[in-house]
Amino acid sequence: MSRLVRTAAELHAATDKGRRAVVMTMGALHEGHATLIRTAREHAGPDGSVAVTVFVNPLQFGAGEDLDRYPRTLDADLIVCQEAGADVVFAPSVDEVYPGGAPQVRLSAGPMGDVLEGAVRPGHFDGVLTVVAKLLHLTRPDVALFGQKDAQQLALIQRMVADLNFPVEIAPVPTVRETDGLALSSRNRYLGEADRGTALALSRALRAGEAALDGGPDAVRAAASAVLAGAAGATPPLELDYLALVDPATFAEVPAEHTGTAVLAVAARVGTTRLIDNVPLVIAGARS
Ligand code: PAF
Repeated sequence: MSRLVRTAAELHAATDKGRRAVVMTMGALHEGHATLIRTAREHAGPDGSVAVTVFVNPLQFGAGEDLDRYPRTLDADLIVCQEAGADVVFAPSVDEVYPGGAPQVRLSAGPMGDVLEGAVRPGHFDGVLTVVAKLLHLTRPDVALFGQKDAQQLALIQRMVADLNFPVEIAPVPTVRETDGLALSSRNRYLGEADRGTALALSRALRAGEAALDGGPDAVRAAASAVLAGAAGATPPLELDYLALVDPATFAEVPAEHTGTAVLAVAARVGTTRLIDNVPLVIAGARS
């Protein structure tokens, strides 16, 4: 069984030898997390250790967001961790992570933290980076694995590690999807059958954008927008927060003449559930 520890001291005793890999989560684990843990096992090797952190971080939830109703399923999470090959599950209390109360000194995500998710959720990425920095200090990993589903979060963590010289490798892991294309998310459990039908428009829009790649950035945006516009008339309707084709280094919108790597990102609400998805693209240039 993966060992459950609640304090940093217990965690250090349990991960004191070999290469250390960590997967940070807020619990409510699904197959996407299991893939992260299995990949962490490969990074750590049989003699290393894999730690999974389970901590619903209050700092990254804004007023009116779903902190209170965020699913907390530790017993089930332990089974996922065990089956995927984690050695230790670190599930600290809020007091263990923030012993002095909410921290006065926090990380600032900078301009990349103010766009897309950051524009809809002000302060969100400051809260994410602050807890990720703390959890990196507490878990002391050689490698930390993060999913590409949260592409902006991943880019900001990579930037934090580079800008502030954190001695850790950040390993991105591709998004895991249901067979119908829906990206796995802890929030999918809130979706009823009809919601789910509408939610599929996110991945369909990304696929439509990808299929229009030869036409360049404007064609990608137009193809994805058309799918999302259709879903705005569905029951329940899709309420779009943003669709953006951005530079993966800055998360700024790419110009019409852009070639090279880009991320097509979408966020929308279905009922009371907010969903995000994205796909990495390489744009070769419009063919006329
Ligand atoms: O992606 C998440 O689950 C969270 O943002 C993280 C990285 C665990 C920080 O709380």
